[in-house]
Amino acid sequence: MIEIKNISKTFHQKKQSFKALDDVSLNIEKGDIVGIIGFSGAGKSTLIRTVNLLEKPDHGEIIINGKDFTKLNSKQLANERKKIGMIFQHFNLLSSRTVFENIALPLELDHVNKTEISRKVSELLKIVGLEEKAHDYPKSLSGGQKQRVAIARALANDPYLLLCDEATSALDPATTQSILQLLRDINQRLGITILLITHEMEVIKTVCNHVAVIDKGKLLAKGTLGEIISNKENPIIKQFLNAGVMTIPQELNKKLQKEPQDGLFPLVEVEINDKVSVEELLSIVYDQYKIPYQLLKADVEYLGNANFGKILLQLKGKDEENQKAIYHFNQNKIQNTVRGYA
Ligand SMILES: Nc1ncnc2c1ncn2[C@@H]1O[C@H](COP(=O)(O)OP(=O)(O)OP(=O)(O)O)[C@@H](O)[C@H]1O
Ligand SMILES: [Mg+2]
Repeated sequence: MIEIKNISKTFHQKKQSFKALDDVSLNIEKGDIVGIIGFSGAGKSTLIRTVNLLEKPDHGEIIINGKDFTKLNSKQLANERKKIGMIFQHFNLLSSRTVFENIALPLELDHVNKTEISRKVSELLKIVGLEEKAHDYPKSLSGGQKQRVAIARALANDPYLLLCDEATSALDPATTQSILQLLRDINQRLGITILLITHEMEVIKTVCNHVAVIDKGKLLAKGTLGEIISNKENPIIKQFLNAGVMTIPQELNKKLQKEPQDGLFPLVEVEINDKVSVEELLSIVYDQYKIPYQLLKADVEYLGNANFGKILLQLKGKDEENQKAIYHFNQNKIQNTVRGYA
């Protein structure tokens, strides 16, 4: 339904130019929730803005329902844009307007009559669960509530597509989950296709059925969530899957030393992926090298037919044995980091 075809975009500033998008192509089917993930500066916002031509690409086509948006004149484009909702990280609500009036805005601009506006806004307030807040102003709302208002406003013109630019990045984890749940509801109940961009793998794992990975303006990979996750050769994907270091339990952190010392044991953080499962790892340590260990932390989940994540182990064998096991990990490309000794 949406074809992003060979899109390129270069920004020119004074004497410098910067290629923000380099020959990006992606197809999005009706009813999909597609996530585009990438680091800061990867070109995510630029890409999502080319979909409704807020950013005009230098090359390529944006074909939606058979129409090439890059060929439309500004009036045709304005008309098409009404059917594409957009939400942002910072909500972009008008502070002088109540919740009701913010949601009503696109309808007013479209000269919809008052009775119809009232009916539609009430319906939208219900969808986003804010009936009680209709006459409040944005400043009295929490971040999650503000995003709900922004979502309701984006739905006012009955869009078939919702573009979300880091819609949950300003929210805490619990609120993020509730907003993602709302997006999923909207997708399922109203049949609205969703394209979202994020730098958080958690967001992708929670709602997306298709994923694309963008880095330095290039689309590195695309596919179902399972396909992307099993593409372990891709270093960027690996980084997203194993983002963040594990916190070390306080008691041990207090006495953690950088260098080995008599009486201290190494804390080893090990990546779990298709190459090594938790069971295999523990079997290497305990069955093969006979090293007692303490499992301090595990953050592992089952995705795309394999376990992914990290575990933090303290090896409690003799110094020499512990080193042998770590040597074995390195020889067998089992990613590991010694976080210290305690
Ligand atoms: N209007 C512009 N003029 C010049 N350079 C721009 C412009 N918009 C974006 N860029 C540059 O293009 C690159 C991609 O920017 P973009 O905003 O698409 O990244 P992003 O992936 O959305 O990053 P973030 O996660 O930080 O929002 C950046 O290096 C940015 O500085
Ligand atoms: Mg951005």
